[in-house]
Amino acid sequence: MTNKILVTGGAGYIGSHTCIALHETGYEVVVYDNLSNSSREAINRVSTLIGQTIEFIEGDIRDAEMLRQVFTSREFFGVIHFAGLKAVGESVAKPLLYYNNNVSGTINLLEVMAEYNIKNLVFSSSATVYGDPESLPIDENSPRSCTNPYGQSKLTVEHILEDLAVSDDSWNLVALRYFNPVGAHSSGQIGEDPNDIPNNLMPYISQVAVGKLKKLSIFGDDYPTIDGTGVRDFIHVTDLAQGHVSALNYLEQLTSSRSPSDMAKSVGFLPINLGTGKGTSVLELVNAFTEVTGRDIPHQFTGRRAGDIASCYASADKAKTLLGWQAELSIADMCQDTWRWQSQNPSGYNSH
Ligand code: NAD
Ligand code: WQD
Repeated sequence: MTNKILVTGGAGYIGSHTCIALHETGYEVVVYDNLSNSSREAINRVSTLIGQTIEFIEGDIRDAEMLRQVFTSREFFGVIHFAGLKAVGESVAKPLLYYNNNVSGTINLLEVMAEYNIKNLVFSSSATVYGDPESLPIDENSPRSCTNPYGQSKLTVEHILEDLAVSDDSWNLVALRYFNPVGAHSSGQIGEDPNDIPNNLMPYISQVAVGKLKKLSIFGDDYPTIDGTGVRDFIHVTDLAQGHVSALNYLEQLTSSRSPSDMAKSVGFLPINLGTGKGTSVLELVNAFTEVTGRDIPHQFTGRRAGDIASCYASADKAKTLLGWQAELSIADMCQDTWRWQSQNPSGYNSH
């Protein structure tokens, strides 16, 4: 069986870390990315870290002809599909762009996969599909709802994957629902490199720490949480990357152990949370960052950010039971590794 994996969006934050984890486990990686939110330098650094040149194809998931060329000349076990746009605020301003890129792009990819009879997919979904959760921790059977086009694009793709699995039971469609990915590779060589002012908490904190931004605004101090600030399930990107390897291993075992009479036993649509199962408040994260790095993070409390929820953390049981995966790294590791990346690369991949 081939061990080649097509990684769409593999030049991005989570994708680049996952390429390393895949290589370390013996998978062969081909990255397909249009570089709309990433740079070649990330791929160069991944190649240096693994001591081998990663095959990189610059292309768009909406370009069926280009995808056909990729599938014609190579034999893949499956696809890990990270490619997508992810800024919630931008999605409200540009909904057509988000639906086109994230939904139409995924349909296009699935159609080409079907043409080439590649039926194993690991899709980047998000805890955002749970909306404002009714109960905590959030398990995979919790109701889904979304309030912005970005979230809606993820939920729509999940529905498409569900329908596809019903229509044809040879598909294996794993939707990994990430909670809040943070941190960087322990080398400090790759990490999160937002284009503009960061929307997310951890890159904002680290840019304040390195002096690029003056002060963190903490959005809300009156939530019904431990200290009034929002609570999230922060997960180290290295753990997250490992979760993708575990999902692929699961699919490989399943497909290789299947006897001809078992052919109908595919996973169909399989949603799995990737989180630590532990909630940390915004203020706790800020304090942990200071404790670990010695950097003071000037901050002020401002009003709540529209669309934010009070608390969100995963039940991580399904990933453990089914994939044998659980998060290993601590909040201190997340802060330490973020800081190593940020301090060594104050301007991200443009630093050197
Ligand atoms: P990222 O922006 O760093 O990576 C996404 C990559 O996809 C980028 O390299 C970008 O250039 C590429 N891309 C975008 N549109 C493309 C297209 N049409 N064709 C080819 N390539 C395209 O983001 P990330 O944080 O690494 O996220 C990866 C995936 O995980 C995304 O689908 C995102 O929605 C999802 N996700 C991210 C988070 C998070 O907080 N980072 C949380 C949950 C889910
Ligand atoms: C975390 C907490 C903020 C910035 C988003 C997406 C979600 C998923 C992950 C992709 C909240 C607070 C933040 C700041 C702050 N992405 N905060 N000051 O909102 O949980 O999730 O990223 O799928 O879809 O919505 O993450 O990092 O933006 O915020 O106080 O400058 O930090 O209010 O409580 P969020 P976040």
